[in-house]
Amino acid sequence: MNWNAIAYQKQHSYVWQHGESLLELLNAQPDEDITDLGCGTGQLTEKIAATGAKVIGLDSDRAMIAQAQANYPHIPFQVADATNFELKTPADAIFSNAVLHWVTNAEAAASQIAKSLKPGGRFVAEFGGHGNVKTILNVLSKVTGKALQPWYFPTISEYSTLLESNGLEVVYAMLFDRPTPLGKTGLAGWLAMFGQRFFPELPEQRWQEITEAVEEEAQSLYQADQWVADYRRIRVVAIKPLSKNPTV
Ligand SMILES: C[S@@+](CC[C@H](N)C(=O)[O-])C[C@H]1O[C@@H](n2cnc3c(N)ncnc32)[C@H](O)[C@@H]1O
Repeated sequence: MNWNAIAYQKQHSYVWQHGESLLELLNAQPDEDITDLGCGTGQLTEKIAATGAKVIGLDSDRAMIAQAQANYPHIPFQVADATNFELKTPADAIFSNAVLHWVTNAEAAASQIAKSLKPGGRFVAEFGGHGNVKTILNVLSKVTGKALQPWYFPTISEYSTLLESNGLEVVYAMLFDRPTPLGKTGLAGWLAMFGQRFFPELPEQRWQEITEAVEEEAQSLYQADQWVADYRRIRVVAIKPLSKNPTV
């Protein structure tokens, strides 16, 4: 799935701005080997690098990686997929913001993440959780007549079980609402960036009509003079145990 890196960087900075508090959970240390999985245009990768950690940014989208590399030439970035990436050496930490709901083969990603950590290493992630953008999805399905389940939005128990079945210990998990302001005209931009890709067959004119119909139907998301997306996020921290049996 191709990304418009320029539009992402220009109009969707709220994604990495919300991710900044996830960096506190990561608590990167100088000289640690850290992978930013699904780094996008690199803004959070750069913040990790600023701690003195040795970070690499991976993303499956060429345009995103090209933009990240142009933004931050001093940081290594590579095109790689979350379901099959390989690191030169296992990581002290794998960090990921707003990516893993795009990866519908969650089992492959979890297995790859677990394999790529050092014993004692940590996985720190945030992405769309159960119920994320429910209103937008329902309205879009209604307006297009197409039942949409394009993303992976797990519950805490589902995702913790997945990580545990891959040998990680979940030490923190949280599911929370994060109403996300998009501005006065932001729903159209959100739909163009994140939704239009699921309707590649539709001509632009038809997409505009659909956008207007969604705006009409989703009025409950227009609050205090702007659109507010009904985001719901899952945050998780999991550790790769030092020994195979963490209880001994
Ligand atoms: C909303 S952006 C978030 C980017 C960045 N983490 C940030 O906080 O700004 C989602 C990113 O996930 C990447 N992505 C989607 N599927 C992926 C996959 N299977 N493997 C690696 N990256 C993926 C996209 O290319 C995109 O750059």
